[in-house]
Amino acid sequence: MRNYSIDSAFPVGNAAGHCKSVSEVQSLARSSASFIVVGSITLEERAGNSGNTFNGDPVFCLNSLGLPNPGIEKLKEIGPAMVMLAHAAGKPIILSVAGLSPIEFGKLADEAYDVGFDGIELNLGCPNVVSVGERKPIISYRRKLVSASLDNVFFGGRLQNAGWFVSVKVSPMDPDRIDEIASVIEQYAVKAVVTMNTVPNCLDYNRDETPVINTPDKTGYAGGSGRQVFQQALGQVKQWRARLPKEIAVWGVGGVQSSEDVQKMLWAGASIVQVGTAYFVGGAKVFGDIASQFINLKGD
Ligand SMILES: Cc1cc2nc3c(=O)[nH]c(=O)nc-3n(C[C@H](O)[C@H](O)[C@H](O)COP(=O)(O)O)c2cc1C
Repeated sequence: MRNYSIDSAFPVGNAAGHCKSVSEVQSLARSSASFIVVGSITLEERAGNSGNTFNGDPVFCLNSLGLPNPGIEKLKEIGPAMVMLAHAAGKPIILSVAGLSPIEFGKLADEAYDVGFDGIELNLGCPNVVSVGERKPIISYRRKLVSASLDNVFFGGRLQNAGWFVSVKVSPMDPDRIDEIASVIEQYAVKAVVTMNTVPNCLDYNRDETPVINTPDKTGYAGGSGRQVFQQALGQVKQWRARLPKEIAVWGVGGVQSSEDVQKMLWAGASIVQVGTAYFVGGAKVFGDIASQFINLKGD
């Protein structure tokens, strides 16, 4: 990473989705998280979807937030303060970006580099983006879109030969698709694959037969996360680790809520672990809780 490395004694930080303001970076800087992920940020500001878009259940979590965020121009204003806070706490800070098309990833990567972030996480797995009335395809399932996005990041802008930390976040996939998408990713100077984003198109109903989550297309399809996805995420980590060359790290995310979950992610092959839903629901103090258990676990 550019200036700071992740503390190997507790290689755990937040997953993208909740930290988008300077005050949230501050609370993570003060917490036991070993790194900070800001975003996902898009080129333009987005209000996100309306209605009930997050059910907040740490076990069966569903969301269709629709990427609410201040946009890259605002991020350029507040980003330097975020970087300063993280670095003052000795922690690397990564920007998660979400392009609505492959070309947008190149622009977002250039901007993030200039602001001073230590690395970038390309969110190729967002299942909840509706733009101009249409649900966008999930990039990480389509090899041509993955390859076009990475072309734009590595060859379209100013990052050529920068040797910067670029990671790719993907959706959960079947074994054949892991093989197909890995064969694209391994052709680029990607430093890590982050697996996994939410499970697309999950669904639940209220007692009156309305979907639990409101979506602009009225399907109620939402991204599934939390405890329900932990075993699936472990399986994804192990399969990606087995498939990728060793130069590309695997970061594990999905359902992690305790030190034992962190340990299992490491056993499956992750070198770094992220916590999403448990942090979104419980706040940055979750990292202190997991860290103290983790140290005891290591001491056993
Ligand atoms: C409310 C919510 C918002 C999220 N927003 C993002 C996002 O902006 N970018 C992203 O890459 N992943 C996003 N995610 C996915 C999480 O980072 C994570 O990959 C997924 O939820 C699985 O981990 P978890 O079970 O620990 O939450 C979001 C998840 C939730 C629940």
